[in-house]
Amino acid sequence: MARAPRKIHLAQFLVHGPTYHSHAMWRHPKTREAGFDWRRPELYEHIARTCERGKFDMVFFADLNYISDSFRGTLAPALKYGSQAPEHDPMPLLAWLGAVTKRVGLASTFSVSNQHPFYAARMWGTIDHLTSGRAGWNVVSSINHNQAANYGTEREPTDRRYERAHEYYQVCRQLWDSWDEDALVMDPEAPMFADANKVRRIDFEGEFFRSRGPLNVTPSPQNGPVILQAGTSPRGRDFAAQYAEGIFAIQPQREEAKKYRDDIRELVAKFGRDPDDCKLLFGAQVVIGSSEQEAQEKMAEHNELVEPEAGMTILSAHLDFDLSQLPPDSIMEEHEHPALQRMKTRYRTDDGRPLTVAEVAQRHGQSVSLPQFAGTPESVTDQLLDFVDHAGGDGFMLSPIYSPGAIGEFVDLVVPELQKRGRFRKRYSGTTLREHLRG
Ligand SMILES: Cc1cc2nc3c(=O)[nH]c(=O)nc-3n(C[C@H](O)[C@H](O)[C@H](O)COP(=O)(O)O)c2cc1C
Repeated sequence: MARAPRKIHLAQFLVHGPTYHSHAMWRHPKTREAGFDWRRPELYEHIARTCERGKFDMVFFADLNYISDSFRGTLAPALKYGSQAPEHDPMPLLAWLGAVTKRVGLASTFSVSNQHPFYAARMWGTIDHLTSGRAGWNVVSSINHNQAANYGTEREPTDRRYERAHEYYQVCRQLWDSWDEDALVMDPEAPMFADANKVRRIDFEGEFFRSRGPLNVTPSPQNGPVILQAGTSPRGRDFAAQYAEGIFAIQPQREEAKKYRDDIRELVAKFGRDPDDCKLLFGAQVVIGSSEQEAQEKMAEHNELVEPEAGMTILSAHLDFDLSQLPPDSIMEEHEHPALQRMKTRYRTDDGRPLTVAEVAQRHGQSVSLPQFAGTPESVTDQLLDFVDHAGGDGFMLSPIYSPGAIGEFVDLVVPELQKRGRFRKRYSGTTLREHLRG
């Protein structure tokens, strides 16, 4: 009997702010015509409902806690170009979206660098309750000196960041497990609200954190949120392989994407887990037209709207390195500064041509180096499936070139095509984010 075609998973990338990956998005005529205010919840409500109509696994909010001065040592370019700044806090928005949607997963980044893990465990437990088990936490450890300075600390080296992240996660995990599933009795006659034999202190004493516990939040539908991860360093991959149920990856070269996927699956297995329990979603920026030519024109028009300096600004922020120090025409991968090594797979085209500093920055301004897929709904579907079938992986994290219109176009035009080919769900079979990812 022929095997059913493998279904993919879809997440929508968002920021509670004007700029996602595209630095042209907030200025794009179609964003402006749509007339939404990125500071108001109505925009996100509209997007979450659209994604739920499209049966997406989740909407996901990235999060940064700073306005970058990494480029030229001043805030001016980040403010001028709205370069992933400002960013409002996504956590209250998750609760809001939980109230206006029923099935779509609701995920966000929350950094382990700044708050005590008790706070994180309590907040994520609460959000998982409020969303009936649809919460997802992208666990990041922040690399930018501006974020550290905002919290009165200093940026830490990678190894140290991840040692702290491991411990942070352990504290949260133990706090979520500090209540047995049946500890909440709520028997008014006895009376017995909660059974003290089934709720424990954790008495955690680590290198970075101490916490007594128990958590004062009852076990949530998913017993804590689904854990997501997006670190690319070897330490980041290790962290993901141990704990993550979903990984977001930016891999513009498909051969590198394949290597990354194979490496992650091997690592997940090394930690005694089933690689299929950790879904790998590749970032993709999709441009849809009614003809190939229209799609190419739309992509060119969008890409031209990205100011070269906006690209330099956001790439400097993500590397936390001032790119104004480098000649724009020099080959990016030839520079040996340690800060420039973290995104090396983004320094070449898909066919392996090394890019200049200016070219990498331009691509970063267009899409933060997400590969772009342009075409008719049918050809975009072909391209996406070709990528994911070649590289492996489990689906895509989509990022629009204008908002919210491009999200609606994907849902109305590409999702039906994926469904027609048996490659995407037609209805939700579960209710929690974990069930969506496993379904
Ligand atoms: C798709 C994607 C989304 C990310 N979202 C965030 C984010 O919202 N906030 C953040 O501080 N870092 C974010 N990152 C950065 C990484 O998670 C990680 O912190 C960074 O790459 C440094 O870790 P590393 O040294 O392991 O690469 C994101 C990375 C990727 C690939």
